[in-house]
Amino acid sequence: MNYATLESAAKFLKQKWPEARPVCGLILGSGWSDVVEAFDIEDQVSYEEIPGLGKTGVVGHAGRLARGTPFGMETLIFQGRRHYYEGEGWTPVAIPLYVLKQLGADIVVLTNAAGGIRSDMKPGDLMIIKDHINNFRDNPLLGEHNPVWGPRFPDQSRVYNAELRDLLKKAGDAVSEKLFEGVYLASTGPLYETPAEIQAYKTLGADAVGMSTVPEAMLANAAGMRVAALSCITNLAAGISATDLTHEEVTETTKAAMSRMKKVLGQFWKELANARR
Ligand code: HPA
Repeated sequence: MNYATLESAAKFLKQKWPEARPVCGLILGSGWSDVVEAFDIEDQVSYEEIPGLGKTGVVGHAGRLARGTPFGMETLIFQGRRHYYEGEGWTPVAIPLYVLKQLGADIVVLTNAAGGIRSDMKPGDLMIIKDHINNFRDNPLLGEHNPVWGPRFPDQSRVYNAELRDLLKKAGDAVSEKLFEGVYLASTGPLYETPAEIQAYKTLGADAVGMSTVPEAMLANAAGMRVAALSCITNLAAGISATDLTHEEVTETTKAAMSRMKKVLGQFWKELANARR
C-alpha cells in the first residue's frame, strides 16, 4: 500500500471540500452506481481527479465521488469501486476507506453484486452480509503496520455492525422488501468460480460469492469504523445456474432491481438519521 498516494488523495479532498465532515461513506459496487439518485447531491468529483484513485476499469462502475447530506447526515458516495484484480495493488482499493477515516467518518456502507449459493435466494434478491470469508489469500493489511488501521492484529469478531444490520432490516420492512442475511465469500477474481469451487465454498459456509467488499470491510473495521454491507444476488453461482455466467447478466439484474435497491438504501439513511437523534 502506498501511503504517500493515500495521503495525496485525502489532501486533495480536504482542499476541494474544506468544510467536509462526513459521517458516512457509501461505496456503490457493480451495477449499484445509479443508487446515487436516491440522494440529493451537492457536489461531485471524477475519480480521475483524485490522486491514486484513477479510472474504474469495470462496466457498471461510474467512477465519481458524490457528496450529499441525506436526512442531515453528511455522506460521501463512491459511485464505483476499484478492485484488486485490476492489478494496481491495494492502494486504489484502500483510498475510499483512508479518505473517510481521515475526514472523520464513522460509518461505511458497502454494496456489491454477488452470485447466490444458498437455495432460498434467487437473482434480484438482496442480502445483508452478516460475516465474511476472505479467500483472497492476500489482504490489504499485510506489510508494515500503520496505526491508521488500528492495532497490529485487528479483532474481526464483529466486522458487520449488529445495530446497522438491524437498521437495514428495519428499512427493508418499512419498504416491504425482504432482505436475506448471510455469509459472503470473496476471491480475487477476475474469474467466476468453477462448480467444484462453489460446492467447496458452500461446505465452508458461504451463502454468496463475489470479488470485492471483504478487503474494504477489513480496513474499515480495523480503522474503527462501523460497517454495513448489502449484496444484490445477480445470478445463481456456477454449477447452480443453468446458464453460463456473464457480466451482462450481472448488470441486467442490478438494473432490474435498481428501484428496490434505491428504496432500501434511501430508507436506511432515514432510519440511521432517526437512530442517531
Ligand atoms: N461470482 C463471483 N462474483 C460475482 C458473481 C459470481 O457468481 N456474480 C456477481 N459477482
